[in-house]
Amino acid sequence: MQSIQSYINDNKDRFLNELIDLLKMPSISADSAYKGDVLKTADAVKLSLEKAGCDHVEICETAGYPIVYAEKIIDKNLPTVLVYGHYDVQPPDPLDLWKSPPFEPVIQKTELHPEGAIFARGACDDKGQMYMHVKAMEYMTANNELPCNVKFMIEGEEEVGSVNLSTFVKNNHEKLKNDVILISDTGMIAPDVPSITTGLRGLSYVEVEVTGPNRDLHSGLYGGAVANPINVLTKMIASLHDENNHITIPGFYDKVENLSDEERAEMAKAPFSLEAYKKSLDIDAVYGEAGYSTNERNSIRPTLDVNGIWGGYTGEGAKTVIASKAYAKISMRLVPHQEWEEITDLFKTHFESIAPDGVKVKVTPHHGGQGYVTPIDSLGYKAASKAYEQTFGKTPIPQRSGGSIPIVSLFEEELKSKTILMGFGLDSDAIHSPNEHFGVWNYLKGIETIPHFYKYFTELSK
Ligand code: BES
Ligand code: MN
Ligand code: MN
Repeated sequence: MQSIQSYINDNKDRFLNELIDLLKMPSISADSAYKGDVLKTADAVKLSLEKAGCDHVEICETAGYPIVYAEKIIDKNLPTVLVYGHYDVQPPDPLDLWKSPPFEPVIQKTELHPEGAIFARGACDDKGQMYMHVKAMEYMTANNELPCNVKFMIEGEEEVGSVNLSTFVKNNHEKLKNDVILISDTGMIAPDVPSITTGLRGLSYVEVEVTGPNRDLHSGLYGGAVANPINVLTKMIASLHDENNHITIPGFYDKVENLSDEERAEMAKAPFSLEAYKKSLDIDAVYGEAGYSTNERNSIRPTLDVNGIWGGYTGEGAKTVIASKAYAKISMRLVPHQEWEEITDLFKTHFESIAPDGVKVKVTPHHGGQGYVTPIDSLGYKAASKAYEQTFGKTPIPQRSGGSIPIVSLFEEELKSKTILMGFGLDSDAIHSPNEHFGVWNYLKGIETIPHFYKYFTELSK
């Protein structure tokens, strides 16, 4: 019987090359031009799970992209771990900011990854982190080290809101029955500071359209006499925050839970350097809601951000024009207890109410999801904590993240089990940005840590 460390040593080149092959597939769920590639990626994931020793692997069709499901049931009396991940990726644009093409993976050293990092769209979010679980499974089955039952559910629509996955989960309670859900799709504080994500923010994503005159107009002949939709839209957006950067939508904060001073003091213990943070982003000051620290602003507080805004003339040179329409895409990150559908309604009502005469406003909701918090005294948390202690020699720190995996709260509601978020990425890995990467060390450390989770979870469940 071989230890996980020596198994990784013997197989690490293959582990890297297999991931690189997966990263060459442009599985961009948001862009229908890549439909064939997304479907091929699902097949590749299916094959990898078969090779890793799963007994029963299937492609489950949905109204959108398929879900790859696999399982290995060794004994009905043993606990079952359900692994969730996603094989779809974000669009890679803007392409010209990539140092190497997004779907031609290369390994390059960086300051934070002296042993090298794989640069490609999806390297960290989430193909690299999802594939750690496939390789950990391979180790456990090949070495007779699998201590419990395993189910895999790898979807292809996480980056577009997991709409079809929620239907699948609702219709498949028995198939997906488990004792704990394990996900690697988040980050860690630093390579030498292991952390377990205990919170995710919810999301409400909307698109707004402001319409003024029935056609684009000469900005001299009409300027000053009719509402300019772009002027109006930017003014309306600006009014959504007050001078303290609080959000002005009535009722927005009603359900926000205020953390106790003790809880805030506990959070403040996590290692964080404001100077390093500013330096990594080339900014000379941080910006945000008055009365909260940077770590609080991006985890326990809700936010409202414009993600895109357009209208009028943006081509070369100058064109004197008042556009007929202006648009923006707006996301609101929510905290637990805020109901995303209710927040979407509050936004819509408020945004329509602040529109001045002379324009029409349309608000179209896109998607959303609930936030999530999980306690640190669950069996799953304890098992994860012990696993990190084994491989990092340190107790991990609980951390509430600002990102969203909207399906996690639905898992808990429908399947009645806790989710453990064991992330191995770094904030600097540039997920969703140009030059996304994932440290080779992080990838291998994840593969090493996961089998320990299975072992401890099974032991603690006895
Ligand atoms: N893996 C991320 C979420 C994440 C990253 C959580 C890092 C915590 C730390 C996920 O793929 C993602 O990008 N989610 C989207 C939401 C989705 C509905 C598009 C997000 O957070 O924007
Ligand atoms: Mn992800
Ligand atoms: Mn993502």
